[in-house]
Amino acid sequence: MKKIDIVIVGAGGFGKFYVDECFDGESRELVNVVGVVEPYPESCPRMQEIIERKIPVYSNLEEFYRDNEARLAAIATPIGFHTEQIIYCMQHGSDVLCEKPLCADEADIQKIAETEKKTGKTLTVGYQWSTSKAILDAKKDIISGIYGKPKLLKTLTLWPRDEKYFSRSTGWAGKIYDKDGRPVYDSIANNACAHYLHNLFFMLGKSMNTSLMPDSVYAELARVNNIENFDTAVIKCGFPAGADAWFITSHATAETVDPVLLYEFEKGKILLVNNSIGAPEENHMDSYINGEIIGILNDGRVIRYGIPDNGGNCRKLALCAKRIMGEKSYFCGTEGASVQTRVINYIQKNFDIMQVHRVKKTDGFKVAEGMGAVLCKLYSEPKKGELINFIEKEDKNERK
Ligand SMILES: NC(=O)c1ccc[n+]([C@@H]2O[C@H](COP(=O)([O-])OP(=O)(O)OC[C@H]3O[C@@H](n4cnc5c(N)ncnc54)[C@H](O)[C@@H]3O)[C@@H](O)[C@H]2O)c1
Repeated sequence: MKKIDIVIVGAGGFGKFYVDECFDGESRELVNVVGVVEPYPESCPRMQEIIERKIPVYSNLEEFYRDNEARLAAIATPIGFHTEQIIYCMQHGSDVLCEKPLCADEADIQKIAETEKKTGKTLTVGYQWSTSKAILDAKKDIISGIYGKPKLLKTLTLWPRDEKYFSRSTGWAGKIYDKDGRPVYDSIANNACAHYLHNLFFMLGKSMNTSLMPDSVYAELARVNNIENFDTAVIKCGFPAGADAWFITSHATAETVDPVLLYEFEKGKILLVNNSIGAPEENHMDSYINGEIIGILNDGRVIRYGIPDNGGNCRKLALCAKRIMGEKSYFCGTEGASVQTRVINYIQKNFDIMQVHRVKKTDGFKVAEGMGAVLCKLYSEPKKGELINFIEKEDKNERK
């Protein structure tokens, strides 16, 4: 089978994993890199090798498409560029794999969908969990009805990040708008932990490629670090079927808790095992492996779905290449990814960001002491107002 010609757009940040995947991963046998578009080539750790392999490097897409074609474009650029680059690549004959989230501004969703229709090209959005066997098998079982109707979904991630993290990249980290005033909406909910917010919507989707739109969204947002947007969030979504979903996360706690989730249904629950110290008791299951997704039915059956992170973060690229070659697979496209973008837009426009003043700084990490415990408790007993109460109390203590 002839290899698929691919252009990698943005190779210095997450895009370096696309380079690894094309050179060393499953995709090595499937794709042929015909160009790299990267305005700062020095930011790509494998640039020397790219040059030695005689792969041309361009500073923008216009230069690449002037004399070249690619069946697939893999985009890993800052969020604010996604829309224009997805559209440009499709208009120039490429199917697209674009990193999550779909785009910053919800007004762009329609433009992207129309371009897909017009060009006949497809877009895959890079939520790797949404192409993982564990997640897809669990979703198939939810759709088949074995778990019954959803009741309560919740997810928690505490991933402290230091000041270097917030000053990384080309100045878009933690920004609400870029320097030209275009929305970026870069936050813990739209970047590092976007996977887990998206998963709440994706798992409730009525079909394998779609997500369910909540009919109500409430958020408590906070900023501990020196950024424009928020680094801590409690988001509650209500769904038409009556279920609630809670997304709880922070980059500014003293504690670390790797992602956990627990989705309760009428006839059972699905959870992600985390046996680490500090992880919620509800997700401790000593006889199972950390990171594994387990389904437990009320009739006693247990289903082991596997570890969604096992496929790595770029297997999605191989799946896209195989799909172009004719193999059928499920993927998260414009419609499936659009819910996350719409919810983020709603939150950014309707909820204020609370500034946390009582902050402790150690080794470049800014943390709100005590906030980790509040967020862990919230995971056990989700309720509105707890993060607000904590911040108001801390604020009073700071002023004393
Ligand atoms: N799937 C995942 O697990 C995962 C993890 C991290 C980041 N991401 C996503 O990857 C994307 C990039 O994030 P990042 O943290 O790597 O950002 P980054 O700023 O660190 O890197 C982006 C790269 O794109 C390049 N770039 C900037 N403007 C460009 C342009 N106009 N054309 C081509 N290249 C351009 C930059 O020079 C840089 O090398 C985001 O959408 C982010 O959400 C996904």
